[in-house]
Amino acid sequence: MYKIPANTLFLGKNLVFMPECHSTNTFALQLCQHPTSIAEGTVVITDHQTAGRGQRGNVWLAEPGLNLTFSIILKPAFLAVSDQFYLNIFTSLAIQDYLKERGCKDVAIKWPNDILIGEKKICGILIENQISGSRISHTVIGIGLNINQRTFAMDTATSLRLNIDREYELQDELGLLLSFIEARYLQIKQNHLAMLKVAYIDNLYKIGEKRRFLANDKYFEGIICGIDESGRLRVKINGEERSFGFKEISYVR
Ligand code: BTN
Repeated sequence: MYKIPANTLFLGKNLVFMPECHSTNTFALQLCQHPTSIAEGTVVITDHQTAGRGQRGNVWLAEPGLNLTFSIILKPAFLAVSDQFYLNIFTSLAIQDYLKERGCKDVAIKWPNDILIGEKKICGILIENQISGSRISHTVIGIGLNINQRTFAMDTATSLRLNIDREYELQDELGLLLSFIEARYLQIKQNHLAMLKVAYIDNLYKIGEKRRFLANDKYFEGIICGIDESGRLRVKINGEERSFGFKEISYVR
């Protein structure tokens, strides 16, 4: 059970809690089918997600009752479709703000929007937009943030508890996180896009370092330089900068 957060203006004031849910993103997208009746800032949250969805068609697994698993409905009609990557930017920065507030060190954003502590992923974000003409009528921002879970099937995952060892009240963590998300959302609403992009690039995982990548079935080395105007990853390969979309490139460990 979650209470309505006290420290936000509109985010989470309409809170839909389900003890169990297939996917909060899928549920939230269904709510968006009734656009006039759904309030901006609605949060759909569950303790046990049975069919959590990740990026690239992956599943999202989280131990029931130990983590934050929720989706936010926003109506960013002020944002042009061509600027939709700012949704990834503000959400990533807000989660990083929250983790830093909780004392985590070495927090980075792995493009496009995985949140890492050191080399391990603590949070995944799945953003699904509904477009109307050239504008984004609704967006569903799904967040899976590992809080109290201590063991993971994959050694590439971590949690807040594994980094700052104490027991967390999920209710309190949700309230604090939503306040950071709301503050960053208001920044895109106030059109502080350039500042947000700079902050995002400054915090990109492995920026300026040589890394191995896979694209078009070929392995190669390159240096992450930033993102282009539509949020594609800029990589310098043999002295030449190129842009890659999300499905066009993957990192190789
Ligand atoms: C990823 O890293 O692949 C994205 C994971 C996103 C998981 C969250 S959990 C809440 C919301 N509901 C879903 O089905 N997925 C997102």
